[in-house]
Amino acid sequence: MKIKNICCIGAGYVGGPTMALIAQKNPDIKVTCVDMNKKRIDDWNSEDLNNLPIYEPGLDEVIEEARGRNLFFSTDVDFAIKQSEVIFISVNTPTKTYGEGKGMAADLKYVELCARHIARIATSDKIVVEKSTLPVKTAEAIQSILNSTGNGVNFEILSNPEFLAEGTAIKDLTKPDRVLIGGNQTKEGKEAINTLVDIYATWVPKENILTTNLWSSELSKLTANAFLAQRISSINSLSAICDATGANISEVAKAIGMDSRIGPKFLKTSVGFGGSCFQKDILNLVYISKSLGLNEVANYWDQVILMNNYQRRRFVKNIIQTMYNTVSGKKITILGWAFKKDTNDSRESASIYVADMLIEEQAKVIVYDPKVSRTQIISDIRCLKTRSDKENKEYLQIETSSCNAFKGAHAVLVLTEWDEFKAYDWQHIYNNMEKPAFVFDGRNILNKQKLEIIGFVYKGMGS
Ligand code: UDX
Ligand code: UDX
Repeated sequence: MKIKNICCIGAGYVGGPTMALIAQKNPDIKVTCVDMNKKRIDDWNSEDLNNLPIYEPGLDEVIEEARGRNLFFSTDVDFAIKQSEVIFISVNTPTKTYGEGKGMAADLKYVELCARHIARIATSDKIVVEKSTLPVKTAEAIQSILNSTGNGVNFEILSNPEFLAEGTAIKDLTKPDRVLIGGNQTKEGKEAINTLVDIYATWVPKENILTTNLWSSELSKLTANAFLAQRISSINSLSAICDATGANISEVAKAIGMDSRIGPKFLKTSVGFGGSCFQKDILNLVYISKSLGLNEVANYWDQVILMNNYQRRRFVKNIIQTMYNTVSGKKITILGWAFKKDTNDSRESASIYVADMLIEEQAKVIVYDPKVSRTQIISDIRCLKTRSDKENKEYLQIETSSCNAFKGAHAVLVLTEWDEFKAYDWQHIYNNMEKPAFVFDGRNILNKQKLEIIGFVYKGMGS
């Protein structure tokens, strides 16, 4: 089938960049990204490309090229559904905060609403593509909702999970390791798979486009994230052994990473992984395993999360112990709120939990991040519901420039690996701080030797 119109419901971190790239590479196809959030759509349409709702290196150039030509952002969901032959669903699937599966299962409310919306509006045959990460067998539910319309419209469901990582989204989309497309193994299913393959094949080599059945595709996405997160928890667990013995985690990571069977990636110790995906997807995997009566499998994956929580607590405990067993009334500067560098996304960032634990210890926490807004930082702390807004305000200070973040500080914590932190004038920072001046480098990005010569007490992770 020759496709003329594509739409994507959900113009978020995944939907926005993915559709921008599909539009850039397929100038003959009209791509419309719709969202119920008007402010978000207005931002995507903003003349000033600095105001795009998400920050991703290189995204502005893609938007500049395609927007208005064959890429459109709109709140008119009905029109987009009607005119499109292919509809991506890329709405968020957060962990459930209520009812059965609370704190574990993925909340599929928005996905179901999308399916119902499509069923209500569609007047011609559609290929519906799951872009959101979903539990295995969700496609069955979507299919069932779509097939209940009785209006003669045929729907074919595909699973096409997105593997892009934030901060490198454009690079990952331009040159993906693989594109995964799962579909029904029927004649119609295979036709739909081929239609989507053709869209990606305009820039991705055919041998990198993998096609599977629906359930393998859905499960592969959860599995990829679980494996990546597991590597981080594994290395973080060993960083604790390094701290206790004098072994160095960077040396250990290098030594094992040179084994081609293990490989060097995702072995950087940190104060814990963050982001909207890892925790959510593992909890989801745990929930699915439990639902299937596979308790040992559930417990196995649950450990990855437990280790991540432990690493954050261990980091804070080390700060308190090193600073003479109290941080009460002390100024502690946090550098970095985003869950990784080169993004303004702070979902599940370790910084949120570290800041919260330090505020519990009555420390005065000062935060600086180059991209995360003040409103977002305040909202992240508020969402934990540990204390009142008034108390948070009393203990949390947010600086929009790093210049003002160090005056009178007792300690500096590096929690995101932003490049600019490495380039700071650390002598100047030292001069502005209380003595002894502590640096707790939760990312091991600073030069320990240089900082110690300046006079800092420097503590890395696992070194
Ligand atoms: C995506 C995936 O969808 C998620 O399953 C995966 O695990 C991570 O990436 P993401 O793009 O990061 O989520 O989410 P978000 O940035 O929150 O964007 C979702 C968008 O969908 C929001 O802009 C929201 O307004 C929109 N939305 C949500 C709708 O337009 N309609 C709805 O019914 C629900
Ligand atoms: C992840 C997956 O990488 C991506 O394929 C999927 O589509 C979405 O989830 P993302 O969460 O955007 O992407 O970023 P990622 O680079 O995976 O980092 C996740 C977290 O792990 C960050 O907090 C990062 O700092 C941390 N991390 C990563 C480490 O602590 N150590 C590492 O070695 C790598």
